[in-house]
Amino acid sequence: MSFIKRLNQKASKSSGWKHWPGLIEAYRELLPVSTNTPIITLQEGGTPLIPVKTISNLIGKGVSVYVKYDGLNPTGSFKDRGMTMAISKAKEEGCEAVICASTGNTSASAAAYARRGGMRAYVLIPDGYVAQGKLAQALVYGAEVLAIKGNFDKALDIVQEISKNYPVTLVNSVNPYRIEGQKTAAFEIIDALGDAPEWLCIPMGNAGNITAYWKGFEEYKNLGKSQTLPRMMGFQAEGSAPLIYNKIIENPETIATAIRIGNPVNKINALNAKTKSKGSFLAVTDEEIIKAYKLLGDQEGIFCEPASAASIAGLLKRKEEVPKNANIVCVLTGNGLKDPDCAINNNDASFHSNLDPSLKTVAKKMGF
Ligand code: F0G
Repeated sequence: MSFIKRLNQKASKSSGWKHWPGLIEAYRELLPVSTNTPIITLQEGGTPLIPVKTISNLIGKGVSVYVKYDGLNPTGSFKDRGMTMAISKAKEEGCEAVICASTGNTSASAAAYARRGGMRAYVLIPDGYVAQGKLAQALVYGAEVLAIKGNFDKALDIVQEISKNYPVTLVNSVNPYRIEGQKTAAFEIIDALGDAPEWLCIPMGNAGNITAYWKGFEEYKNLGKSQTLPRMMGFQAEGSAPLIYNKIIENPETIATAIRIGNPVNKINALNAKTKSKGSFLAVTDEEIIKAYKLLGDQEGIFCEPASAASIAGLLKRKEEVPKNANIVCVLTGNGLKDPDCAINNNDASFHSNLDPSLKTVAKKMGF
């Protein structure tokens, strides 16, 4: 049965909605909301779990690989799952402004939901290290953008202090409501597959998402909605891999700017998820990330951002360890359109420019 059919069946059985209403309504009973909570939603969540044959074939052994394509959320990343919760709760508490540090996606999402909820959004970003699409979003969504001469970790220190001293609510993943919203991705995977996958492959930056997925998988298992728990396989970019090398990276570097983070705030939770799930963390190089990014694009028609491709790069690097006949889910956290520069500079397409506008020239270029 298709994912959407399952959802609609679930819908008609439970709260009576006919179309996907957003994740808070879909999973209301498992989230910390009440009838007093104003739900600020763009109908996020309900994203597809897409089989990727090319990757399955590269691994062999009867393995089925799926991608959870969270780049199809309203602002193009998984952050919308956390933001609908964080902003709804901020609104319930009477807050008038929110703040976050961001490598780009959190700022886009925070701005969209805050403005929709009638609040101001302040976003601190590392100047020059946010992909163009994400910056464009923050501006269009009406954020007040503060670009600092420093990296994400520095920006996060500043916003944590500001939110302690001024009347603004912090909406980074230290805000527990972010984790609550994001855990619903694990629910959706189990709803689609009927059980948890053997492995969950996920990119890690500040490590909020791996924390959220693990919480979701544990909660669904405790409710009897799944029989098993996945091994949590986390991946970081080689030049920004504090969780793999077990030390703070002062000057993180990677082409995957979304995960250019040297001191993850959710480190303890990520390590807990790894230990409890018998999972494992590994670094992937920028070269491996780009290879996976191109493979998804030109073999599967799936355009994700470089940070997201780290989950596929990591799975391919761990190919030998994959158990036979396993179901594996790789999380694609963000949409490829977010980072057009990376796309233009990293593809194997043929682009013939400056052609004479004649049938003859065009047909000749086509090889006829
Ligand atoms: N993938 C993408 C596309 C991201 O934007 C991020 C984080 C991650 C993966 C890592 O998730 O931090 O929960 O481990 N982006 C944050 C931001 C830091 O500001 O947009 P995480």
